Amino acid sequence: MLSVLFFIKNSISLHRVNLFLGQRISGADNLYLATRITQPETFEAMINRELLEKYNHPVPRYTSYPPANFFTEEFGPASYLEAIDQSNQWNPQNISIYIHIPFCLKMCFFCGCNSYALRQAEVVEAYHKALIQEIKMITSRLDKKRRVSQIHYGGGTPNAIPVEYLQEINELLFSTFEFIPDPEIAIEVNPAYLTFDQMTGLKKAGFNRFSLGIQDFNDEVLDAVNREKAGMPVEDIIAFLKQDSPNMAVNLDFIYGLPKQTAVNFSETIRKAIELKPDRLVTFSYAHVPWVSKIQKKLEKEGLPAPDEKIKMYEAAFSILTQNGYEAIGMDHYANSNDELTVARRNKQLHRNFQGYCTRRTTGQVYAFGVTGISQLEGVYAQNTKSIDEYISKMNQGELTTIKGYTLTPQQVVVREVITELMCNEQIVWNHLGEILGMTSAEVKNQTTYNPELLQQLADDGIITLSEEKIQITPEGQLFIRNVAASFDPLTQAGQTNFSKPI
Ligand SMILES: C[S@@+](CC[C@H](N)C(=O)[O-])C[C@H]1O[C@@H](n2cnc3c(N)ncnc32)[C@H](O)[C@@H]1O
Ligand code: SF4
Repeated sequence: MLSVLFFIKNSISLHRVNLFLGQRISGADNLYLATRITQPETFEAMINRELLEKYNHPVPRYTSYPPANFFTEEFGPASYLEAIDQSNQWNPQNISIYIHIPFCLKMCFFCGCNSYALRQAEVVEAYHKALIQEIKMITSRLDKKRRVSQIHYGGGTPNAIPVEYLQEINELLFSTFEFIPDPEIAIEVNPAYLTFDQMTGLKKAGFNRFSLGIQDFNDEVLDAVNREKAGMPVEDIIAFLKQDSPNMAVNLDFIYGLPKQTAVNFSETIRKAIELKPDRLVTFSYAHVPWVSKIQKKLEKEGLPAPDEKIKMYEAAFSILTQNGYEAIGMDHYANSNDELTVARRNKQLHRNFQGYCTRRTTGQVYAFGVTGISQLEGVYAQNTKSIDEYISKMNQGELTTIKGYTLTPQQVVVREVITELMCNEQIVWNHLGEILGMTSAEVKNQTTYNPELLQQLADDGIITLSEEKIQITPEGQLFIRNVAASFDPLTQAGQTNFSKPI
């Protein structure tokens, strides 16, 4: 019966698992048969549909706390400058730099990123100059004894602009700051536009982590979402990037829940991905938020997969990846067993910022540059304008373009710590958090909407294990971690609902 909660441990044989699957999921036999052929071990976890029905309602993604939709326009350039000056004192003192390149050669209909159609070469050049100007303005105020641990280029499509521009920005940063040993210099790229010359230039510019936006290997799916496939075999891209670069890491990004995707064809995509042996892999749950990204309305015409089919895609990806040497990091990230993130997760040292998961080693104050960039400092968020023209013209006049932001209250700093700990390390040890925050366990709980009845319900449903001292997410509760986080969040408990669903 679908209503039976069960979690299949490693010890259960494949034969037994297939019996279960045969009873539970009809119509997906090919999918699981194919998995059995490639990986004759076991399945690790399957999702209880009853729980899903109960908990698959809109909750924040908690990429930040408070979520970005709480930022206000009262927070402007003066507040940001003040926060930058104070940030030299904050811990951790590492500097993390985010650079937003908003341009894309072709707009994907699923896109929820801050992306814009590529403009004329003069505008791109002016944008690059504006970035340099903003970097000089902000970094001149930073204490140069602090070290850079991470640079991340996101978009849009950073490889949509000339590679020389990215080289120049990196050179400026390398010459301005000291760096920690083995810093992460990462870039998101669309493989449709990568060339060997471009990759050579990017490697020379110092990039040591590439995230390739694959999304799906199925041509029909890519056609339906208005996206070009990779311009050359992805294995050639990875081989070229890794050649003579022992520290090079390659991530692959996928999305499930798009038109024309099924559990069967998405599992083919994931199996193909595994053959490429990426260091990390992300399977994003497609976030359908047409009230924010109007272009997504086009996908409604194509027809999105039924909710249960989307869940099967998640299950298939999870099963295939975890049986092929990858470990799940949070809900949608997977990393190989030697990866820094996997080790940090095991040691409960995982952290995250707007760029995604990171470790305590790379965690720092995040200074963001470019349109829509969100800086993430100890007690403050600050976001730049969304207008490319405004950004360029204000930078030419030496003015910052902060359009909104947020200063956390002392209570929100505590809630953020609780939620981050839960989202990253799947547990809350109250007295440990108390030590970090300089208060007792009871005081930490009191700052959140700690609700014993709600938590007991989550425990009865098998999502958490609960004691006075500790809350632990169970393996089957992993999927509902955002719901557990929301139970401590005064803002969400007050009734905000325009978020996406967990799956
Ligand atoms: C800035 S894009 C990556 C770089 C490049 N623009 C590309 O598409 O290859 C970041 C990633 O966000 C994910 N993404 C975009 N829109 C999304 C949505 N609506 N829901 C979930 N993930 C999404 C995609 O997997 C994409 O690779
Ligand atoms: S998914 Fe990437 S390439 Fe497609 S529109 Fe969004 S940012 Fe641009």
